[in-house]
Amino acid sequence: MTTHAITITVNGRKREATVPARMLLSDCLRHTLGLPGTHVGCEHGVCGACTVMMDGRTVRSCLTFAVQADGSQLTTIEGLANESQLHPIQEAFWEEHGLQCGFCTPGMLMAANELLSANPNPSDDEIREAISGNLCRCTGYTQIINAIRSAAAKLRAAVPTSAT
Ligand code: FES
Ligand code: FES
Repeated sequence: MTTHAITITVNGRKREATVPARMLLSDCLRHTLGLPGTHVGCEHGVCGACTVMMDGRTVRSCLTFAVQADGSQLTTIEGLANESQLHPIQEAFWEEHGLQCGFCTPGMLMAANELLSANPNPSDDEIREAISGNLCRCTGYTQIINAIRSAAAKLRAAVPTSAT
C-alpha cells in the first residue's frame, strides 16, 4: 500500500503523519492524530458531521483525503475553545439548547464559525442557508438557529469599538 508523509498544522500545532494514499482526512484526524471530536456520520458528504476548517474554509473531512490536507492549516472542534473557556459559539449552543445528542454539533459549530467569520450579523435566512448542509436528527433546528443568532451577538459585543 502506498503511503505518504504529510505535515498539517492542526489547531495551531504542527503535526506529521505517514498515511495511506486513500486514508480519509476524517480517519486521519480521529485515528492517527487522536482528535475524535470530528464526527463521522454518513461518510459520503451528506450529513456535515465531519466538517472541519481547512485554510479558512469548511470542508467535509470524509470527502477529503488526508494527503490533500498536506501543508494546510486545519481547525477542528478541539481548536475552537481555548483551554479554559468555551468559544462564544459553544456558549450560545449550550445556553440556547442547540444540541441534544450532540452528534451533529461539531459540524454545526464549524459551519456557524465560518458563517460568523464572514458575516457578523446574519439574518435567520442566512443562518439557515449556512447550516443547510448539516443534518440534525434531534433538535428541529430552531434552537440551533437561536444559538447561532445569539453567538453572533456575543461575538459582535466582544469586538472592541474603535475610538472616534
Ligand atoms: S460524515 Fe462527512 S458529510 Fe457525513
Ligand atoms: S443534536 Fe442530535 S443530531 Fe443534532
